[in-house]
This record gives sequence, structure tokens and C-alpha cells, in this order.
Amino acid sequence: MATPPIADPKVTVMLAGPGHEAVFYQMQPPFLSDARFVISANATQWAAFEQSLTQMRPDLVVVQVEIAPGPEALIQMLAEIQVWNGVAILVLPAALRDLRGTFEKAAVVRGVYIAPVNWGEIAQAGFAAAMTERARAAAAAPLQQAYLSRTSGAIVGTRVVAFLSATGGTGRSTIAESLAYELSVRMNVRSLLMSFDLPPAAAPHLKLRYVPNAMEYFTRPGDGFAAAIQSREGLDVLLAPENSVDYQKAAEYSTAHKTEPESIYSLVMASWTRNYAAVLLDLPAGEQPWGLQGITAANTAVIVTRCTLADMTATRHSLVLLLERLIGEHRIPREAIYLVLNQVNDHSPISARGFHDELVAGYGWAPPVAAVIPYLPAISQAQDEQIPAVTRVDGLAKAIHNLAESLFPGGLMADLSGSNGHNSKSRLRIPHFRFT
Ligand SMILES: Nc1ncnc2c1ncn2[C@@H]1O[C@H](COP(=O)(O)OP(=O)(O)OP(=O)(O)O)[C@@H](O)[C@H]1O
Ligand SMILES: [Mg+2]
Repeated sequence: MATPPIADPKVTVMLAGPGHEAVFYQMQPPFLSDARFVISANATQWAAFEQSLTQMRPDLVVVQVEIAPGPEALIQMLAEIQVWNGVAILVLPAALRDLRGTFEKAAVVRGVYIAPVNWGEIAQAGFAAAMTERARAAAAAPLQQAYLSRTSGAIVGTRVVAFLSATGGTGRSTIAESLAYELSVRMNVRSLLMSFDLPPAAAPHLKLRYVPNAMEYFTRPGDGFAAAIQSREGLDVLLAPENSVDYQKAAEYSTAHKTEPESIYSLVMASWTRNYAAVLLDLPAGEQPWGLQGITAANTAVIVTRCTLADMTATRHSLVLLLERLIGEHRIPREAIYLVLNQVNDHSPISARGFHDELVAGYGWAPPVAAVIPYLPAISQAQDEQIPAVTRVDGLAKAIHNLAESLFPGGLMADLSGSNGHNSKSRLRIPHFRFT
């Protein structure tokens, strides 16, 4: 981690295109399978592109221009990347081929291609352009891939998302609760929040009682599941017991009897069969059973971190946990691990981009950043008033939308914006990952 970012031979790339099909199925595969690249962000919508571009400061931006509201807006936005010596490759639909000359004049543009293109060639051209642009020669030895690929079942059906971090107070509860509320109340996506802190944070934040809770399930696995759930505005919530003795007993029992029906692991696994599209696990920091068994029952991980040195070490620790120590014990493929940078402020000495770079330099790989959330005091104010923060704080809502779009690409946001949020039929698509 002491390696300065400039010595990192990998090219950070941001992929932007109109919709998830374009970004995840067309553009992403050659970049994902090419170890010289790290995808630091994806954007399937203009608003997300604008936000992530300057936050993540990628070396290379590959854009299908239809994502932009117009050529001027795109050229203006791309001009920003000069600040960090970024370069851009653009792909035009055949119908807009006349704009080629206009785009080629932009200082940062290193190539303009007309669709249909071979994305492998685009990746190649992009890599060459980024390397050429490097302020100094790239380090000779490529970082060792600490791990390659693993097999695991394909993700289908329910997204079971473990929100985790190795340090406390990063914002796991805030973000898990916000996403759960947003998905279920605003987007009509049937969701379950599992709040596993001691005491469970969702109770005060969402104005719930401490009973019923997971104890209903532990005493009657099976039909006790429904009895364990509380609801707020259609969002289902399942709380860990608030009583320390019950909490500890469940942890001890689960450690010795992980696959028995009364374990924490089985409780989370039970959620897979209840027709939820999203199960959000607000896991406690550290490595005790309420956290670890949640991870082993999840198919997606979101590491929540602040841009601090301590959290960088902690994030690296979480990556080792997921990709090395617990390997084979969970069903989270590398492609389903995301970072959320939280409590980001402009005065911090470590920028969002710097944080990601350092992680890559230190570990050889880092997950893409699915959302960057500024430090916003209004968040804890809303929580103190027991009002869902995501309905009160714009900056949080935007970031939660980006996170939702990363986890459930396709249609969610379009439906919302196209209908003032009153559309009752959200489409939900979970990307199919390739396992090699
Ligand atoms: N983006 C933000 N800006 C400002 N304050 C925030 C932000 N995100 C979270 N907070 C505040 O930081 C504190 C910690 O957040 P939260 O409880 O969500 O973190 P956590 O990771 O779940 O913590 P714990 O380890 O205690 O479970 C809370 O007071 C919350 O209101
Ligand atoms: Mg918490």
C-alpha cells in the first residue's frame, strides 16, 4: 500500500453507455477479462456518468455517446479529464457518424469509432492510449494477481447483499436501510432488510419495535420466519434480538451448528425462498457469527468505507476475508463485490480516486465503486427525527440510485424518472455473471 498510485501499471477505466445491456453485456467483458484494466466505475445513465467521472478520475473513459444528452454536454464533461491526464475513446452509433469530426477535435479524445465495434479492439486501443498518456513510464512488473477466478453458482433470483466493513461507523446501517427503503417503498421492489447490529440500528431509524425479531424464527424455524418480520410502508424488516443474552446464544449455537435450521446462516438462507428481489443484510463490523454467517449466506457484497488510511487497511482486510480466507465458504463471485465510499469530503487528504488506486496498488485488485456519498450532516439529523434519510437528503438519494443501478441494472431508474415515481411495475434484472 506504500506504492504511489503512479507506479500502478493497471489502467483504471470507466465504461459509460446507454443502459445496462450496453455497458454490462457489450462493453464490459473484454475489460473484465483483461488483467491490465481495473474497472473503477460504470455508468448507464448520464447523471451517474457526471457524478462518477470526476469522483473516480479514471485513466481511460470509454463512452457510447448516446448516453449524453447532446454532443456539447459530452465534450464539456470530457474536458474535465484533462485535469488528471485522462483520455477518452468514443463510440458513435452509425446514425451519428457525421459528428465524428466534432468529437475528434476534443483534446482528450484518442479515438472515435462507429458502431458496431469490436469491443476487444476498443479495449486494446484504450489501453494503448492510456499508457501513452502516462506521465512517466509504467512500472515494468505487473502486479501479481493474488487470485484468479473461482467457480460459484450463477446469481439468479434474489440478490442477497451483505453490507460489511472491518471498522465500525462507516455507514453500513445507513446505506443498507436507505437502499432497502428506496427499493421497496419508492421502486416497488419487494425487499427485506435484515438488521444485525446489537442493538439493531433499524429499530430507532425506521421507528420499529424490538419485538418481534429473529428469536421468533429461532424458536420456530419454518413458519417462525414470517412471525419474525415487521413492516414499515411495505418494507419488511427482520431485526436481531436486542437482548445481549439471546444475541450471544444465537451466535454460539450458530458457530457449532451452522447448517441446522436454527442458525443465523439458515435464517438468512431462508430469505432466498421468500420471493424477495432484494435482501439487504446490515451486518455488524468485525468477524463474529452475526457478520460471518451473513456473508456466507449472501451472493453479493458491498464494502462500505470512508476515504481514510485506517479504512483502506480495513477494506483490504475485508477483501482478503472475502477472496481468500472465506473462499469456498460463500457464493459471492468477484464480480458481485462492490465498494461504496461514504462520508467523502473535499478536505480529506485521500480522494476517492486516490483511495481506489491505493487499494489496487496494495492488493492487486479492487472492486468497482458503486456509489460515492458525500459527508452530509443532514443524514444523522433525519435519523434522529426517525425519518428515512434517503427521503430527506438529496445527495444520499442520488448515491443510493447509483448503487441500486449497479446492483439491479436496467430499468429501475428509467421507470422511476419516466413516471414521477408512481409506476407500480418496476422491472428488475439481475445481471448474469460469467464464471470462468
Ligand atoms: N454520508 C454521511 N454523512 C454524514 N454522516 C453519515 C453519513 N453516513 C453515515 N453517517 C452517520 O455516521 C454514523 C454511523 O453511520 P452508521 O450507523 O450507518 O454506520 P455503521 O457502519 O452501521 O456503524 P456501526 O459500526 O455502529 O454499525 C451515524 O451517525 C450516521 O448518521
Ligand atoms: Mg450499523
